Amino acid sequence: MGMTNRLIEKFATPVPRYTSYPTAPQFNGTVGPAVYADWLRTLKDDGDVSLYVHIPYCDTLCWFCGCNTKITQRHAPVSRYLNYLFREIDAVSTALSPGSKVTHCHWGGGSPTMLAPDEIVGLADRLKQRFTFAADAEIAIEIDPRDLDETKADALATAGMTRASIGVQDFEATVQAAINRHQTFEQTRDVVDLLRARGVASVNIDVMYGLPHQTLSALRNTIDKVAELAPDRVALFGYAHVPWMKKHQRLIDEAALARPQARFKHARDAGDRLEAAGFNRIGFDHFAKPRDDLSIAAAQGRLKRNFQGYTADGAKTLIGLGASAISKLPQGYVQNETAIASYERDVAATGFATAKGVRFTADDSIRADIIERLMCDFEVDINAMTAKFGDRANAVIGEACETAGSDIESLCTLTDDRLALTAAGRPFVRTVCSWFDAYFQAGPARHSTAV
Ligand SMILES: C[S@@+](CC[C@H](N)C(=O)[O-])C[C@H]1O[C@@H](n2cnc3c(N)ncnc32)[C@H](O)[C@@H]1O
Ligand code: SF4
Repeated sequence: MGMTNRLIEKFATPVPRYTSYPTAPQFNGTVGPAVYADWLRTLKDDGDVSLYVHIPYCDTLCWFCGCNTKITQRHAPVSRYLNYLFREIDAVSTALSPGSKVTHCHWGGGSPTMLAPDEIVGLADRLKQRFTFAADAEIAIEIDPRDLDETKADALATAGMTRASIGVQDFEATVQAAINRHQTFEQTRDVVDLLRARGVASVNIDVMYGLPHQTLSALRNTIDKVAELAPDRVALFGYAHVPWMKKHQRLIDEAALARPQARFKHARDAGDRLEAAGFNRIGFDHFAKPRDDLSIAAAQGRLKRNFQGYTADGAKTLIGLGASAISKLPQGYVQNETAIASYERDVAATGFATAKGVRFTADDSIRADIIERLMCDFEVDINAMTAKFGDRANAVIGEACETAGSDIESLCTLTDDRLALTAAGRPFVRTVCSWFDAYFQAGPARHSTAV
């Protein structure tokens, strides 16, 4: 543990989560709706696309929440928002080159389960009318189990949901009180049963470590109960405490948060426990049963990383719909207005709500590829990179090594062919990625800590 403690002290510093490169702070106003529409039009006709649909509403506030959501007890704003979402779906699908085929569709939030049953079916219908879906398209929907009853479960099945992604976080009452999220094991189990009974083949469960008052034994208990639900995937997220960005996180008692050493120990223990329960470790925060797509993709070296985390989705284009949604096209990233009022205003005017984005430079593409491989495989095949990008890839790697200096030996092994994280270095993969990030400046905490 002595060496691990030294690594934690040195490397548990704030770094981005690298769900994209360039990361969101680089997005700027030079990419607007006209550029986005042009990028959609010029997509290759035979390309696969992924859809991401954002529902930015919840009925209660979890104090830890870092997502883009708004709390409402009234349904009218949700229905109103849905109407604007339909208009954006119409505008974007009209601009999109006609041969594109949807292979993956993810509804996230907030809580898509805030939609009424007829709205769930209506949204699925609208998407299927306006986009061409592959026959075996995957439809994943994020579920707040506290919102779900039989009628809603029926609606989700009618909508064609193939994967349910269920928020749990922690089952311990003390922790639940400290995060304002009350959800029993029985309630969660009933939701899993309801969905499985309706033919939903795949279940993902979100768990968090680093929550206030979360002891190691509470976390172990949560992991054991989660394993009892036999999910196909588990996402184990470290609580990102960023109260300067998410003001409501001030409701969380900082004195009750684990220090970096304990946090690290909790993450490792929970991960080991999931592995012992038959899950494969996928990247740095996901776990999947051996027969799950994520495990297969990881074994074949085709794991990818996007805004939802790790994915087996190979589509090169991601179309984000709804407030704050981010799209990825071959030319760059595009993000919609985040505030619901601004989103609705823009959609009303033009059908689009593009607020900002970033165009990829040749240099960005090399760094993005290296960072994605590190995040997914914990190593980079240097020859593969030079085969793909030429000498420039060597220059990027050389520069990163200079930035890292002697830190390389602490976390990685480097040969002429390969940069690979050591077992001890793996938890700090985001730090290694930051060496390749041309825009990253280590400095005052703007991101959450690395472990
Ligand atoms: C949109 S929510 C999932 C669906 C639904 N809203 C729910 O909570 O049940 C996405 C997930 O992000 C994770 N999450 C939210 N805030 C976080 C934070 N500050 N740090 C780390 N993970 C967070 C939680 O595990 C949560 O389940
Ligand atoms: S964690 Fe999920 S349910 Fe809780 S506030 Fe955030 S988005 Fe809503």
